[in-house]
Amino acid sequence: MTLTAQPAEPTLDDLARDILRRNDRGGYTVPTGGLYPFQWNWDSAFVALGFAEFDRNRAWQEIESLVSAQWEDGMIPHIVFHQHDAGYFPGPEVWNTGRTPPTSGITQPPVLASVVRQLWEQEGADPSHPRMRALYAACLKSHRWFHTYRDPLGNGLVMVTHNWETGRDNSSEWDHALDRIDTSGVGSYQRRDTGHVDAAMRPTQREYDRYVAILQFGRSSGWDHRVIADQGPFRMIDVGMSMMLLRANRDLLALAEAIGDEAAADELRGRVALSEQGMDWLWNEEVGAFCSRDVITGESSGLVTNASFLAFYAGVGTPAQRQRLLDALERMGRSAQYLLPSLEAGSRDYDHRRYWRGPIWLVVSYMVARGLAEQGQADWAERIRADSTRLIIRSGFYESFSPETGEGSGGGDFSWTAAMWLAWCGQ
Ligand code: GLC
Repeated sequence: MTLTAQPAEPTLDDLARDILRRNDRGGYTVPTGGLYPFQWNWDSAFVALGFAEFDRNRAWQEIESLVSAQWEDGMIPHIVFHQHDAGYFPGPEVWNTGRTPPTSGITQPPVLASVVRQLWEQEGADPSHPRMRALYAACLKSHRWFHTYRDPLGNGLVMVTHNWETGRDNSSEWDHALDRIDTSGVGSYQRRDTGHVDAAMRPTQREYDRYVAILQFGRSSGWDHRVIADQGPFRMIDVGMSMMLLRANRDLLALAEAIGDEAAADELRGRVALSEQGMDWLWNEEVGAFCSRDVITGESSGLVTNASFLAFYAGVGTPAQRQRLLDALERMGRSAQYLLPSLEAGSRDYDHRRYWRGPIWLVVSYMVARGLAEQGQADWAERIRADSTRLIIRSGFYESFSPETGEGSGGGDFSWTAAMWLAWCGQ
């Protein structure tokens, strides 16, 4: 009698690597097939951390392919349309930015410099590392773009001119600002997102019309970033991007110092100090958290979101402010089965299944946990990591997860979720 060996069950590591390989379109990955068929900015940064665990070359390449679409003015676009796909709206013909390869006309959270530093340190932190040096130059140019076009208050915080720039597309933080957007000229268009995932998870039609109206303003300006910054219909200081840029400036500073680029190092030190002081503008004493604020009206969103906790990642906040943030974390930890929800339960429009109004995104959880660990809160960092692990074990590699049931939401086989498993929570 011969015994035939049973093929071993694939491990979660195997599955995660397989997702990255399958979502690889040749030098860049799509967030997931179908719903998001192009290259997205901050997705690629996190995906690079996943590739770094098993294919170093491919990790660098992921970022290089994104940066190859950087604009002359320094902006790194939020989507690069490397190849045609009719299944997405708004596609390149709607953005009409006139770029080769075609791109959107807005950006996304500036996490690239932080990831470049991580990749470089993993390889021994050699100051002459050619791939690091090339990406350092691109990141510096992109950070300068933020300072030139996106710091209207001169306090080192980041203004966004479209809610899609924040990466937290449908957060309730944008609701009041979006209410004021005139949609009378939007015309008809066909959404594609609701053909891929349950409409109950996606933004409503009313919200989508506003997103399109803001896009149309940018297009009508010929994607003139000065005009958009000065006159755009949507102008918010985003707490998430402000925290991430502060962190990224510190990481870029470490690269500048290693390279010996003294002039840039001085400039970056100044930027870091400015943002550290400026961050208080976002503190909302009533709710006890850093919240986004409208540049036009000065109104604070008054909402505790997962981005509020990036204060630890950015290394800001007085001891009293940090304590209030930990109190909020404690509340969220009690009301949710899993940390870290994108919106505190009980807030207006909280919905554990709808985009950025409750569900968990592991990339934000990862940055928050890193920050907590660095700032002496190892127990909280570990709780977030352990919950993230449980989510993947329970539901697989979804785009996002319900903090109440742990069920997956949005797209499946998601690249950055797989990457977070490999680089962080599955370790
Ligand atoms: C959604 C998310 C955004 C992400 C994109 C691709 O638009 O809100 O953060 O970059 O999907 O995953």
